[in-house]
Amino acid sequence: MTHVWSADLIASDEELPAPLLRKEVSLDTGHGRVVRAMLHVTAHGIVEPTVNGNPASDEVLTPGWSSYEWRLRYRSYDVADLLEPTSVIGLALGNGWFRGRLGWSGLNGFYGTELAALAELEVDFEDGHRQLVPTDTSWRAGPSSTLDNDLYDGQTIDARLESADWTLPGASLEGWTGVHVVEHDPSRLEPYIGPPVTRQQVVRPVKIWTSPSGATLVDFGQNLVGWLRFTLQGEAGTVITMRHAEVLEHEELGTRPLRTAKATDHFVLSGGVDVFEPTKTFHGFRYAEVSGWPGELSTSSLEAVVVHSDLRRTGTFECSDDMLNQLHRNIVWGLRGNFVDVPTDCPQRDERLGWTGDIAAFAPTAAYLYDVSGFLSDWLVDLDLEQRAADGLVPFVVPDVLKYMENPPDFPDPDSTALWSDAAAWVPWALWEAYGDRVALERHYPAMTAHARRVEGLLSPTGLWDTGFQFGDWLDPQAPPDSAFDALADPGVMATACYYRTLRRVVATADLLGNTEDAASFGTVADRVRDAFQEHYVDGGRVTSDCATVYSLTIEFDLLSADQVVVAGNRLAELVRGNGFRVSTGFAGTPFVTAALTSTGHLDEAYRLLLERECPSWLYPVTMGATTVWERWDSMLPDGSINPGEMTSFNHYALGAVADWMHRTIGGIAPLTPGYEQVLVAPLPGGGLTWAAASLESPQGPITTRWSTDDDGQLTLDVGIPEGATALVRLPGVEDVTVGSGQHRMTASRVAAPVG
Ligand code: BGC
Repeated sequence: MTHVWSADLIASDEELPAPLLRKEVSLDTGHGRVVRAMLHVTAHGIVEPTVNGNPASDEVLTPGWSSYEWRLRYRSYDVADLLEPTSVIGLALGNGWFRGRLGWSGLNGFYGTELAALAELEVDFEDGHRQLVPTDTSWRAGPSSTLDNDLYDGQTIDARLESADWTLPGASLEGWTGVHVVEHDPSRLEPYIGPPVTRQQVVRPVKIWTSPSGATLVDFGQNLVGWLRFTLQGEAGTVITMRHAEVLEHEELGTRPLRTAKATDHFVLSGGVDVFEPTKTFHGFRYAEVSGWPGELSTSSLEAVVVHSDLRRTGTFECSDDMLNQLHRNIVWGLRGNFVDVPTDCPQRDERLGWTGDIAAFAPTAAYLYDVSGFLSDWLVDLDLEQRAADGLVPFVVPDVLKYMENPPDFPDPDSTALWSDAAAWVPWALWEAYGDRVALERHYPAMTAHARRVEGLLSPTGLWDTGFQFGDWLDPQAPPDSAFDALADPGVMATACYYRTLRRVVATADLLGNTEDAASFGTVADRVRDAFQEHYVDGGRVTSDCATVYSLTIEFDLLSADQVVVAGNRLAELVRGNGFRVSTGFAGTPFVTAALTSTGHLDEAYRLLLERECPSWLYPVTMGATTVWERWDSMLPDGSINPGEMTSFNHYALGAVADWMHRTIGGIAPLTPGYEQVLVAPLPGGGLTWAAASLESPQGPITTRWSTDDDGQLTLDVGIPEGATALVRLPGVEDVTVGSGQHRMTASRVAAPVG
């Protein structure tokens, strides 16, 4: 709900690392009981609001990270139950994304150097009277027990400075100062479209031991994103230090992949019983190194708190192969770790940015696993804003902080870039397919078209997108560790293919929204691009640079004639076999390679590729004990050492995009029409699997599938379809059937997969 603001944005008169702001409020009398009390809050920085010392909500890291230049989101909390006749409204501020470090340049304060808060308590009484308590210069500011805080570097809390006094009416407030008004543009204020970030899960240590160097190490058994929490009493002034890392190397904490992110928290004991929880930072970690702990550290001493955007889990997948199940769990955890308000590349090093290409690859998978409609729509609003300010250019990252960074000389001048900028069209389309929400599609349409137009201007006279910088098939496993661009796929082929896909999506959207002029004009561009592609890159079904990625893209993006598809499919299968079923694709090809094999009749090769365990493959990290998806196919080398590349995360979702194929082709659930009013249930058993089960809480209700094969090769499929939906069920060797809502059982004798 939109709030009409009358409050001022206020900041402490004294510069503080994590200021507290407070206001004592006496409720108006003579108006009967309070019928409604809302606290609306936002900040430059992150803010934790309290009423009489009680948190106003269970959210953390609010108001998250948006393109603050044009959009500052706020939250509204029902605080009626927390109010007393005299109450204290408290606002605890931290640097967050506003003032903290962002990106690898080591710089901070891109959006400003002063933390500030905007809040308004709105109390409605029985007789219709409304009392407003806005932030203004009557508020007071003071220091907190947080001496240092940064999302990358960690937080320092000195419990000796903690006091509940400031949350009580009549507090003496010694050392507190006044506040001043900070100018800002109120037209930036908007409610969230997506969910806030909350604590999601508590994970206990599975092991504590002493490393060869004498360090105390803790293993949580899962690479996760959040922080450590503990309650402890010890001698006042004792300092406990916690360092975090995703992996071990040479039996010690492997912090090199964090680059300059310190990921270190310090806690100073007060002498009383202290509860520590560093909510003004977050870390991507599985392991922690604890020093200074008084007495013995045991598995019950501390816990990890997992935080991410509060998303509803919608999709599941399971099958008879435990390695595949672990891969799927890793993909889910990869999403959880990187959906902390912004869809990020990684959650641990000095980066954690909204890289557009990563989510362009991963959006269909995400939209099956969780309800990400609000989360990604919210992010797309920022994409649109950034793009408007940059003449249609979709930046590499959204929110775009790279524009404020002085980049190394070899870093490209930004312009639209295939796959990355295509997020403007591919992410809305993934949402449309998953949720069928026309209003959302309409909202994102201007970004889609602006991107398509911008790229049209970048085409060379041939009609190919073979100009300018491309990330290309980023992190193709053949690329050397220090040169992720060096892919087998020709960048022009990759970029032109991606642009053609974008154009088809733009044309389809224009048609859907009744924008016939756009549909016709983008349709003409699409035809021209396809003709150019055919003329310059295709030779009888062979495609320039002749590698798995170019065949995957051309087959899946419809750039070939029916005859050429057969040749290209055979060539793709030949390449996949020739490579010993090891993966040979990067960010661009990986989401499509199994689908391209399947649709050209090479299901066995698709399964062999998915089930391969030697490096590089999807299951290689599983053999190495991975609990999330890695950035590189070989983030950890077979000898257990960390890839020497400077960019080596163990929690990157992009290569997990293969789960989309697992859901559609193994689980057998795909939308036949956007939003699953019509479902395509077409599982294709293979790879030696004896059963698989999938489920999806679709917008129509729950869809379930479960198939199994018996020793005679008979396939039995159970399908559940919700009210209001129908399913086209397609089993190998059997006529298609359409079924309505309810539970259905079907059988087939398992035969070779059909080409379709
Ligand atoms: C990020 C990637 C991103 C890439 C593009 C990396 O540093 O982690 O995931 O897409 O840069 O260059």
